[in-house]
Order: sequence, then structure tokens, then C-alpha cells
Amino acid sequence: MKNTVTSLQQMKRDGEKISMLTCYDYSTARLIEESGINAILVGDSLGMTMMGYSDTLPVTVDDIIHHCASVSRGLKDTFLVADMPFMSYQTSVYDAVKNAGRLIKEGHAQAVKLEGGATVVEQIRAIVNADIPVVAHIGLTPQSINAFGGFKVQGKNIDRALQIVEDAKAVEAAGAFMVTLECVPEELATLISNELTIPTIGIGAGNGCDGQVLVYQDMLGMFSGFKPKFVKHFANIGEEMKRAFKEYDAEVKSKAFPAEEHNFKIDEEVMREVRRVTSKKGLSLAGEDERKMA
Ligand code: KIV
Repeated sequence: MKNTVTSLQQMKRDGEKISMLTCYDYSTARLIEESGINAILVGDSLGMTMMGYSDTLPVTVDDIIHHCASVSRGLKDTFLVADMPFMSYQTSVYDAVKNAGRLIKEGHAQAVKLEGGATVVEQIRAIVNADIPVVAHIGLTPQSINAFGGFKVQGKNIDRALQIVEDAKAVEAAGAFMVTLECVPEELATLISNELTIPTIGIGAGNGCDGQVLVYQDMLGMFSGFKPKFVKHFANIGEEMKRAFKEYDAEVKSKAFPAEEHNFKIDEEVMREVRRVTSKKGLSLAGEDERKMA
């Protein structure tokens, strides 16, 4: 079944959970498509997972377009959302609509996601008026890391909790068709999910949300070291990749790879002629027997 804005909203009404993963390349997109996941987010997390930055702030609209267009070529039924990177919509409503348009036209996304609540409702309204579906993102908004003073759970005191509820209502009223809740306490996220008519997609926001999103390298266990509390490793692909890389290295060095079955064959007659000609010209391709004869 093709996933669309309306089918995702219908899933909330039917009480069916929505699955979403980040993705940044064609071959992973094909695997996710074949797995039946409902939606993909080409997140600005690609700045950290694919480009090695320490946060998402340096990511550009061109970076997202490059990755989103690659992902789109691997998809058929999965809904594709592109993240609006830092300073691509905060600067003005005009910039917001122009950059959202680029993500649709050049990145082939079906919707855009932007961070912020009540402070970005003008941008959300304008993008929606341009017929571009918007996913909002509230709670922990990583583009505000410098203002927040780090990656911290949001909404733990009364003021901040009420602010997040207000943000959720504001983005829904502005026309967002879905909203991401990041690092919000479970009970608060559940309350918001019950209050809103649009689906909530949680990351570190508990099971009361209408769906879940994870960074795919996190859930596959591709990064060793730090594991956020809300991440579950569904596989240990990082260890498996390292094992395969090490085995390849050892087999290249021991000459076990490539083996007979990996080699291409040539007619002995053709090869004899190649050896004869190259040995005449004194080229290093000459076979042992030809060299002896010379
Ligand atoms: O950029 C991203 O991957 C995100 C998810 C963490 C929701 O915004």
C-alpha cells in the first residue's frame, strides 16, 4: 500500500502505529522499502551520521537534496520526508517556502520537516499554503542545541511541559499534518498524542505516540560507544561489518581472496598469442616459457 499524508493520518484514527526510520542513501532506502516501513526521514542527523560533524548545524539544503534525491530513487510506497536544515527557514517566511520547494522539486521529497513550535507557525502556514505537507518537530530540537545547552530531555518542569503542549497545538493549528516529539517524558507525549488529531511520531517519547522514528545506524548498532537511552539495538551490524572488513583484509594479504571462482577466464590460444607478442616487445606480461624461449 502506498503511504500518503492521508493514509498516515488514517492510521492514527484506526489506532495503527506508524513506523519511520531515517535514511540517507539509495541502497538502504531499497532495504527499508522492502521491509514495509511506512515513512523515511532524510534527517539533518546526516550531518553527524554521514558527514561526521559533532552536531546538525553545518548541514545545508544542498546536502539534504543530494541525499534525499538518492533515497527517492530507491522508494515506491514509502513516504519520504526531508528535513529543513538550520537557517533554511528561521531567516524568513520567504526562505522557508523557497527552500521547502527545493526539497520537493530537487530532492523529490513528499513533505518537509522543520523544528520549532509557536515560533515557526508563520513558516508552517506559508509552506502548507504552497501545498507542501509539513511535519513539525518539537520537544528537543537539535538545531537549538546552543540555546538548550546540550541534548537534554525537555518538558520536565511545569512551564516547559505546558510550553510543549502549546507548541503541539500551535503547529497543528498552523497546518502541520504530523509532529515529531523528541526526548519528551512518556506521560507528556501521551497526553499530547491524545489531544491532537494529527499523528505524533516519537523519538525518546514513549509508546503513547502514534508512531516511532529512529536513526537507522543507531537501531542497527552501527556506532559503538555512546547509546542514547531511547535507542534499542535491533541488530549488531557494526560488529558484523568490522568482522567482514577484517576477514577481507586478512584474505587479501594471505592471497586467499580472490579464489578460483572469482576469476574470469580467457582462451588459452588468445593468451598464448598475447604472451608471444608481449615477449617479443619485451613487455613484462611475457609468460615464463616464452621468456625461456627468447
Ligand atoms: O534529523 C533527524 O534524524 C531527526 C530525527 C532524530 C527525528 O530529526
